[in-house]
Amino acid sequence: MRYQCPACKKECPELYCVSCKKNYPTKDQIIQFVQDNNTETWDHYWKRIPVYDTILDVLRKIMNVQLRRYLEKKISAPATTLEPGGGSAYVSAMLAEKGHQAYALDYAAAPLRIAREQLKSKATLVQGDLFNIPFADELFDLTFNNSTLEHFKNPLDGLKEMARVTKKGSCVFVGVPFTYGPLSLYKLKKSSFKDAWDGTTYDRKQLKQMFWDAGLEVVHNRTFFFRCFIGVLGRKT
Ligand SMILES: C[S@@+](CC[C@H](N)C(=O)[O-])C[C@H]1O[C@@H](n2cnc3c(N)ncnc32)[C@H](O)[C@@H]1O
Ligand SMILES: [Zn+2]
Repeated sequence: MRYQCPACKKECPELYCVSCKKNYPTKDQIIQFVQDNNTETWDHYWKRIPVYDTILDVLRKIMNVQLRRYLEKKISAPATTLEPGGGSAYVSAMLAEKGHQAYALDYAAAPLRIAREQLKSKATLVQGDLFNIPFADELFDLTFNNSTLEHFKNPLDGLKEMARVTKKGSCVFVGVPFTYGPLSLYKLKKSSFKDAWDGTTYDRKQLKQMFWDAGLEVVHNRTFFFRCFIGVLGRKT
């Protein structure tokens, strides 16, 4: 695998950077490009609330099966995929089951541990930053996430970084809450996370515009999961 050292941005073929001499450990089958400090906000998000989270898990599973079916039509097997900010990365676990080389990246350790322990995910699990993805340019046949970019103040920077690691001619998919769907009610709710506003919703035009701004060609858009989300598929040209 061709990594990109998040500290000095030099490409490194191993989990050791010859340029800045940083070593990136693998702990409990999770490659650590960031350590556990500063992940409290999102670790808190992943703390489980009984019953509520069980219901949410069922809904998430239905949605992610739909998403996996949609995304699998955009790649040919065996593809190399990346889900940055994927949390426990259900879709990546399913893609890995189907024989794809799936990489799931999240800043927080807690969801990656869920992926490993509860989902028995065969995806490669990476603790790292979506805004400084620890992979070299143009590696992935598909880079995607859902329900992630709407949490950030600078989502365009995140999308540009997703585009960087995607191969030319390959696709980037982003799903976010849809303005004209049920999740708009979230706008009435105060953010539950420090430094992360969870009320952002997008309409088609706004999400497509973000793809154009990131230099991606928009090839398809769709609402999904009972119009809760809007997704855009873009191609890196
Ligand atoms: C709302 S969750 C969505 C997770 C997943 N996409 C899903 O639908 O279950 C947002 C995720 O983004 C992760 N995250 C937040 N900031 C990040 C960053 N800078 N780099 C990578 N992941 C990040 C959080 O840890 C969290 O797991
Ligand atoms: Zn380095």
